[in-house]
Order: sequence, then C-alpha cells, then structure tokens
Amino acid sequence: MKVKNLLVAPFFAASLMLLSACDGSDLDGATLVVEKGCVACHGMKGKAIAPMYPNLNGQWEAYLRKQLVAYKDGSRVNAIMALQAQNLTHEEIAVLAAHYGE
Ligand code: HEC
Repeated sequence: MKVKNLLVAPFFAASLMLLSACDGSDLDGATLVVEKGCVACHGMKGKAIAPMYPNLNGQWEAYLRKQLVAYKDGSRVNAIMALQAQNLTHEEIAVLAAHYGE
C-alpha cells in the first residue's frame, strides 16, 4: 500500500462516520435532542429554558422513559408532549431518557 493511501484511509473512515451521523439513524442522545427539537424547551442537558417547561436533569432515567411512553400511548395527556412523543420510536425514547436522566 502506498504511503498516501495510509494517510487517506483514516480520513475516509472519519468522513463515513460523519455521514452516518447526519442520516438520522444515529442514536446518540445529544444529537437526538437537537434533531427532535427537545432542546427548544428542555435545553441541551435538561435544564428547561423557561419555568413553564419541566427540568429533566437529575430525573430518573426509568421515570423519563415511562412518561414518554405514556405520552405516546395517550395514557398521560398533554397536547405539546403528545405531539413530541408520537414521533419517537421506543428505541429513541430509551436514548432520550438515558440522555436526560440518570
Ligand atoms: C414546545 C416545548 C416542548 C418540547 C419541544 C418538548 N417538550 Fe417535553 N415537555 C414540555 C411540557 C410543557 C411538559 C409538561 C407537560 C405536562 O404537563 O404533562 C413536558 C414534559 C416532558 C416530560 C415529562 C417530565 C415530567 O417531569 O414528568 C418528559 C420526559 C419530556 N417532556 C421529554 C421531552 C423530550 C424527550 C422531548 C423531545 C422529543 C420533548 N420533551 C420536547 C414541553 C416540551
């Protein structure tokens, strides 16, 4: 293998990783809170941007997951959060709960 190829290979791998981060299938919590818009109300790390939105930081991961599932299936009723949760898969809910919760 030529020296030039050895230098290019890591950059190629890195750009593939960047591409996969952009196609929506990446389930990294920090990316997902931006992609799904949670950050607009609950902030990047769960400290809400205004008092009308609940803080999620410091909350139990299992509690957050349960609430998101409840909004999604309609057993917890809130117009804003129902719209948010209906667009989430159960896998995304798990990642979001892990991101905000502990
Ligand atoms: C437009 C603002 C807004 C956005 C965007 C939003 N939320 Fe919410 N969220 C709220 C409000 C308001 C409540 C309180 C609803 C209620 O009274 O049940 C809430 C409640 C919650 C709760 C329950 C908190 C608790 O203490 O029981 C969780 C979990 C949650 N949101 C997660 C998310 C996630 C994850 C996203 C992104 C997919 C998101 N929210 C997007 C406004 C928002």
